[in-house]
Amino acid sequence: MKVRKAASAIDYRTLAKRRLPPFLFEYIDGGSYAEVTLRRNVADLEAIALRQRVLNDVSQIDLSTDLFGQTLALPVALAPIGLAGMNARRGEVQAARAAEAAGIPFTLSTVSACPLDEVAAGTRKPFWFQLYMIRDRGFMRDLLEKAKALGCSALVFTVDMPVPGSRYRDYHSGLAGAPGMMGAMRRVWQGAMHPRWAWDVGINGRPHQLGNVTPVLGKDSGLEDFFAWMRDNFDPRVTWRDLDFIRAIWDGPLIIKGILDPDDARAAVDVGADGLVVSNHGGRQLDGVPSTAHALPAIADAVDGRLTVLADGGVRSGLDVVRMLALGAKGVLLGRAWAYALAGGGQAGVAHMLRLVEAEMRVAMALTGCTRIAAIDRSILV
Ligand code: GLV
Repeated sequence: MKVRKAASAIDYRTLAKRRLPPFLFEYIDGGSYAEVTLRRNVADLEAIALRQRVLNDVSQIDLSTDLFGQTLALPVALAPIGLAGMNARRGEVQAARAAEAAGIPFTLSTVSACPLDEVAAGTRKPFWFQLYMIRDRGFMRDLLEKAKALGCSALVFTVDMPVPGSRYRDYHSGLAGAPGMMGAMRRVWQGAMHPRWAWDVGINGRPHQLGNVTPVLGKDSGLEDFFAWMRDNFDPRVTWRDLDFIRAIWDGPLIIKGILDPDDARAAVDVGADGLVVSNHGGRQLDGVPSTAHALPAIADAVDGRLTVLADGGVRSGLDVVRMLALGAKGVLLGRAWAYALAGGGQAGVAHMLRLVEAEMRVAMALTGCTRIAAIDRSILV
């Protein structure tokens, strides 16, 4: 598969748009409501000017970093993305392999196409697992125990989805808005209009299910059941106290994802989390909240090194990774960037996107005079 068509990480969006049926492209690409926060994430990050410094010896640049007891080749992980495995044949396995080869963690979403054991069987190194708080605690317990038994090296617990945000694009695209036969026919038609995807995923990428959720959704469930399941099973009653339930089962690194406020960040410290992700769910939940670039510095100050701060939202390049690190993150999650690259070029596309990000980081570090990740801080911002 030719993947060199993308000259920068974000070029994969164009390829993804061409290759994917709209019901999948719009799901990845879209945000909630008027998509104000989605745009803010990108715009606020882009607007951050880096301080160019010269005549430092930048012949040796070390991009490695330690996170949660692991040494990573880059301060980057692939974010959990629901349904992303539908972007290429058994897609999460392909993306996890690309991450493994690049020396960074892959995070498997609860609502992935490939189940935990399929990704574990297709990879050699541990990956991270993402979990939602689901009403059926027995089901959660089973998933956590499975993740533990398969050697997952961190748990990313998503807390910004007590209720799903309204993503209007999903209603227009045929993913959420057309239940039953009509919806299925629309999606089949869209697939037929994208023959490359139809062959790769539609025909050869089955089963088209949410692998981890099949035990409760049933084997005959289709994609339209996804939203109904999210609506009915995500637990809006959850509070900080419920973290005890998770801690009782999961003794590895626990990362709370979806923090946007310094008070919540302090609460994450108090419950003993090992890390948090400053995130507004890629602008897919409450439209109108600040960008993560805007929220990050105050959160980093509030926790003051007591846990590991990660960030996501609007990161489309290596420059953006460096910007997030300068604002106070110790690591950065790439979301849409890998979903687009997977659609554009499968495993090779994700691997290529990560090489582009690395190359962009190297140039940004060289020209801000940083030879180590730890040297990146607010002093490199104008
Ligand atoms: C799930 O987390 C989604 O954003 O759709």
